[in-house]
Amino acid sequence: MLFDLLKPAIFALDPERGHRLAIGALKALPALPPPRPGALAIDVAGLSFPNPVGVAAGFDKDAEVPGALLGLGFGFTEVGSITPLPQAGNPRPRLFRLAEDEAVINRMGFNNAGAEAALARLKARAGRPGIVGVNIGANKDAADRIADYATMARLMTPYASYLAVNVSSPNTPGLRALQDEGALTALLDAVIAERDAASGAVTPPVFLKVAPDLTPADVDAIARIALDKALGALIVSNTTVSRPDLASRHRGETGGLSGAPLRTLALRRLREFRQATGGAIPLVGVGGIASAEDAWERIRAGASLVQLYSAMVFEGPGLGGRIVKRLETLMRRDGFASIAEAVGSE
Ligand code: FNR
Repeated sequence: MLFDLLKPAIFALDPERGHRLAIGALKALPALPPPRPGALAIDVAGLSFPNPVGVAAGFDKDAEVPGALLGLGFGFTEVGSITPLPQAGNPRPRLFRLAEDEAVINRMGFNNAGAEAALARLKARAGRPGIVGVNIGANKDAADRIADYATMARLMTPYASYLAVNVSSPNTPGLRALQDEGALTALLDAVIAERDAASGAVTPPVFLKVAPDLTPADVDAIARIALDKALGALIVSNTTVSRPDLASRHRGETGGLSGAPLRTLALRRLREFRQATGGAIPLVGVGGIASAEDAWERIRAGASLVQLYSAMVFEGPGLGGRIVKRLETLMRRDGFASIAEAVGSE
């Protein structure tokens, strides 16, 4: 309701200011507890998710509002991407609403307040219930990017429900080359070693977030590495640098495309990863999910969890709770007693 009231104001603003307004409104919400596990609860990578619908990275880059998002009914949220040092990102404008296409193009470039600022916030909420993943990245001008991921793994391990290694942002030049076999193996070895060294009573699983712009050979290689390193999950996918037919005047902007036009591509990649991993690594489906029907299709195609961002730009952060409600109806309609039972059942 709050979003419906604010929507004209938000849409009249430059998208980035609109986003700040939305974060500000979330900060002002009364602190509600995270959703309770119900019929949609699912265990993934040793974590018990109350429901499978989460907030994708990039919405809450600096871990300002994880509690508010969980309070709205999301089963989990992923803060970040966070880099070791604060970073301004690319010059503005760098975020575009493509309303006619229900899409977003962004070339933010890992703008974030850095690890120290995020850590202070995560420490302040430590011990509170709710699953908060931490998405980690490298500074644009880091001499050694793998060392940046290792640093982030060490710092965030005590406060992260899971670590999400983001090697798929199109907006840091060269970053996606870390998806190549040799680099990815070295990167994951470094992250896992730091995670193990920094773990206390609990060890957060490592998730890997990949691009949708991958060849079948890339998918096979990444799946092999994921199995070999026993990753907690693969997050499929980040934004695309491809440009399907778009109507908006912003269609020529450089950056990553997300929202409705990404749906088919992200779903196809998810199916390929399901096939390549044989279901042995849990998958997080993300890209163009805007309804319970979309979430359900992704689950049936092999996703144990789903995430969304762009659809919230158009429908507000209350969308997560609405999807959760309707998802249970779809699950029962199709004769499933749990989400786990439905994963990959198509
Ligand atoms: C993103 N996304 C993203 N992903 C990530 O791993 N780290 C990040 O910092 C960001 N930042 C970011 C900013 C903006 C403005 C957008 C729109 C997206 C990608 C996001 O998490 C997700 O993978 C894609 O947007 C696809 O999902 P949706 O938006 O189609 O639901």
